[in-house]
Amino acid sequence: MDNFKTDLDADGILLCSFDVPGKTMNTFTKGALADLEAIANRAKNEAEIKGVVITSGKSNGFCAGADLDDLFGGGWEVEGEGEAALKATFDVAFEMNRIYRLLETCGKPVAVAINGLALGGGLELSLACHYRVIGNGPKTQVGLPEIKIGIFPGGGGSQRLPRVIGVQAALLAMSEGKSFKPQEALGMGIVHELVEAGKEVEAAKTWIKTKGDPVAPWDKKDFKIPGGGPYHPAGSQVFIMGNALLRKQSYGNYPAVINLMHAVYEGLQVPFDTALKIETRYFSKTLMTPQAKAMMRTFFFSMQAIGKGSGRPDGYAKTEFKQVAVLGAGMMGAGIAYVQAMAGIKTVLIDRDQESADKGKTHCADLIKKQVSRGKLTPEAGQATLDLITATPDYSLIAGSDLVVEAVFENSELKATVTKAAEAHLADTAVFGSNTSTIPISDLAKASARPKNYIGIHFFSPVDKMMLVEIIMGKETSDETLAKAIDYVLKIKKTPIVVNDSRYFFANRCFIPFTAEGLHLWAEGYSPAIIDNAGRMTGMPRGPLEMMDDVALDLLVKITSETAKAEGDAYVPIPGEKEVAAMVADGRLGRKSNKGFYDYPAEKTATKTLWPGLSEKFQPTILEADPALVEELKKRMLYVQAVTAARCFEDGVITDPREADVGSILGWGFAPWSGGIVSLIDAIGVAKFVAELDRMTAAYGDRFAPPQLLRDMAAKGETFYGRFGKVKTDKAA
Ligand code: NAI
Repeated sequence: MDNFKTDLDADGILLCSFDVPGKTMNTFTKGALADLEAIANRAKNEAEIKGVVITSGKSNGFCAGADLDDLFGGGWEVEGEGEAALKATFDVAFEMNRIYRLLETCGKPVAVAINGLALGGGLELSLACHYRVIGNGPKTQVGLPEIKIGIFPGGGGSQRLPRVIGVQAALLAMSEGKSFKPQEALGMGIVHELVEAGKEVEAAKTWIKTKGDPVAPWDKKDFKIPGGGPYHPAGSQVFIMGNALLRKQSYGNYPAVINLMHAVYEGLQVPFDTALKIETRYFSKTLMTPQAKAMMRTFFFSMQAIGKGSGRPDGYAKTEFKQVAVLGAGMMGAGIAYVQAMAGIKTVLIDRDQESADKGKTHCADLIKKQVSRGKLTPEAGQATLDLITATPDYSLIAGSDLVVEAVFENSELKATVTKAAEAHLADTAVFGSNTSTIPISDLAKASARPKNYIGIHFFSPVDKMMLVEIIMGKETSDETLAKAIDYVLKIKKTPIVVNDSRYFFANRCFIPFTAEGLHLWAEGYSPAIIDNAGRMTGMPRGPLEMMDDVALDLLVKITSETAKAEGDAYVPIPGEKEVAAMVADGRLGRKSNKGFYDYPAEKTATKTLWPGLSEKFQPTILEADPALVEELKKRMLYVQAVTAARCFEDGVITDPREADVGSILGWGFAPWSGGIVSLIDAIGVAKFVAELDRMTAAYGDRFAPPQLLRDMAAKGETFYGRFGKVKTDKAA
């Protein structure tokens, strides 16, 4: 066996240590499953084996789940449609259930010693063991996170977890994909025993020797589902409420969530072996949906590839960051200093005067305190992290920095001045990154004596929470500088996408039209409630009006006036922009001033309400929307973003569909069910998308007009992943 090391002790207990060769973390491949089958057969057939303990031979985890790529034969994407494809998918997918079940029914007691992270297929294997011991390791967690990549637990998890902890708790855990620490897992009943880290195997063996029961609870005659199954009065309530709740959260956008409900509801009413088949059938159906395919690609494969530096040019040694300076200790600069310190980077945080610099450091201290109070950092580690930050107005302390990140006011002259001031203290090899959100990088680079080393490093607010960083190439930025910027972003545990210089770069350029479409609808007489509800139903985190409040209305007014200035006569005003400007003049700046499109009550827990004054600006005339109209509104809000992304490809602003998809979801919460902004177009089909855009251009205006690139792709029957995906995929594989 390649993937498990076995050792039969004097008591007849077969210890099986999961240890996939050449990998830092265990995952279930075809080979690992075959080994597990061999273990189950040995346990069944060899009389001297009295029991089995499964544990991990890795120091950093038990098992991270199934290796989808390997299980589905190198092509994770299920080909074809219809019953034949479903059957083929079923046959592959059922292997995991068949083998786990073989172990569960081998006739000998099987205990698992969870000595690290056990997620997805890792926890599912544990649930198929008769006894579960978990070690109290600092990084140990268990959970079924499949829903986050568009599928649901398909290795028995959807059937065993409800039978172990009850339907309500299991549905909640699986539909949110949450992970649990050892203490929580014990409290919920997911595991039977919690022991000191390192004592797991010993405890598992003790159970086998003293109690060892080789029959799973659901294989016993008197088994009852904790809290009641679908036909139990309390159990049926869970399904009625659960259905409504899931609908409210996901608006029916996620087939995985719906299929999970089906699998649990139907599976709990039949004997266990039939239940496993029901699970695999719904699991296979889910795998075949465009949503699951796109979500797996984006959240699993593309994220992994980008995390390994897929956009990084080859041939440059990895940069170690001994010290990084941040210019400007305001909202963004302080956030950047915090994430740097959390990544262990010595940070010089500079502002105009000591007081402003200290204010930024205080913000970092507050964020660190939160981590300490949540138990994520010890007080000593928190202090050591804070000590990495030096707050000062003294530019000479920049000396020795490998990188400077500039986050002073959005003003070209000021940015030029601080660039020069900083470069006076920098080594020739150091990189200068600007966090500007609107000014072209090539223009800012003119102030630099070394434009090759000048690059855009664009964070999103709030920096500590938002995972995306756009890296913007100026005309003269060198590949070496790009490699260093990517090393930096990966070091601070963010996700970099690489874009070329253009107004608003990629993320804001695509996001702004979403909010603008909200204004169009408002001016057309749609009631604000319909606009934001339809917005949320697209799968965006919030509707366009509430999103504008969150971003800040004054900022949007600034953006529109600057766009108007830059575009001159070509500028097409957005209906409603004057009304928003008037709201700003009246002090309605959005959430930050507790009033904007909505009124925000003082108590944070109370719900916001639409500002009644909105109807004085535009009298709402459309107060109801039937399903067909809602679909049209959703289309307007999503397609206007997607067509902008297509224009970004045409202009060469972005070149990798994986980065566009990942960037859209991490940057502005673009409907995650779609797998991202480009996957949405590919799933619709470019030709159909173009036809719809033509119709919408005639109905609503040129902002929907398809670029020539889309027409070319439609004529050739191409997809974005087909046309642009090949460029970089080989490198990241
Ligand atoms: P802010 O107003 O909170 O902070 C700017 C800081 O720069 C202030 O603390 C100010 O005292 C300091 N500063 C001014 N002159 C200085 C000098 N000569 N030397 C050192 N520090 C100086 O602004 P914010 O929001 O942090 O924005 C900073 C930059 O980040 C801008 O370029 C902005 O466009 C960009 N950005 C902002 C985002 C946002 O959501 N606020 C998002 C992404 C980028």
